Amino acid sequence: MGLQSGRPVVLDVDTGVDDALALLLAVNSPDLDLRGVTCVAGNTGLEPVVQNTLRVLDVAGAPLDLPVAAGARRPLLDPPHIAEPAATQTAEHVHGADGLADLGLPESTRPLDRRPAVQLLRDLLLGSDTPVTLVPLAPMTNIALLLRTYPEVQEKIERIVLMGGAVNGGNVTAAAEFNVFADPEAAAVVFGADVPITMYGLDVFYSVRVSETEATAMAASDVPSARLAGQLLLFRMNGELGSAEIGDAGAVAAVIAPDGLTTEALPVRVELEGRYTRGCTVVDRRAESDKDWDPHRGFPAPVLDVALGVDAIRYAKLFVETVS
Ligand code: RIB
Ligand code: CA
Repeated sequence: MGLQSGRPVVLDVDTGVDDALALLLAVNSPDLDLRGVTCVAGNTGLEPVVQNTLRVLDVAGAPLDLPVAAGARRPLLDPPHIAEPAATQTAEHVHGADGLADLGLPESTRPLDRRPAVQLLRDLLLGSDTPVTLVPLAPMTNIALLLRTYPEVQEKIERIVLMGGAVNGGNVTAAAEFNVFADPEAAAVVFGADVPITMYGLDVFYSVRVSETEATAMAASDVPSARLAGQLLLFRMNGELGSAEIGDAGAVAAVIAPDGLTTEALPVRVELEGRYTRGCTVVDRRAESDKDWDPHRGFPAPVLDVALGVDAIRYAKLFVETVS
């Protein structure tokens, strides 16, 4: 990897349409120095995630020596009451049968790093001269295993900016967001890390949108990254709204331009039980004075910088301009 300017980052992905948008933004941003990418099962199985990730990096023209490693193919625990383990659920309704909008991108010949994801993450973090920003955009199994296997890497993590959770509501269930639902135990381990964490949840995830007009123009571009981004956005286009969310790419925008995100330091717990609530991120917005009678007050929750608002126009513009 040549000398790079910009903030050092590593992405953990389950590519997926919006993970692909995040990769396109990270590779093309002059403000970021993408050091590596790790893959985990989630939107689709691990092998398709790896193939999709390599294909997207080919389109983006990422350096061939950018390390990509495969990680966990299942969550830490397969929940007892889900007929099919969350991470092996198909994502056809969101990401297409191949997990990448069924665009039929050519197979990649890009080499996969021989190291497992946890090893690559460790080597990238401990080998970096300056602390690295970790950007998990998928079920957090790889990150939890990293923190439990090599806790010393925490000194070399500048911040974890993760897409996951929600202050209100869910998407995969009424209570839970997919990345946390797919591996709630892993999310709880990551939330408890001794590093600053930004939780980029559903409350902002769907707000950053690109219009159908703009996506159509991008899909006609002769710039490969813009063309692929346009095709992916058109695949996710919401006919009623006339726009599509950039999803995970918004978390990358939050690394590039953190002042575009409104956050508040709030206690967050991950619900691990509950037939209907497993994977819920319980964000405590109560005033301190209201907590005197809280039976849980003896069990302090991790405090995360929770995204409550986003400058959606600015992030959408940043995304479109950077990939174009
Ligand atoms: O809930 C949204 C998240 O689930 C995104 O990361 C999307 O790619 C899926 O993994
Ligand atoms: Ca994802």
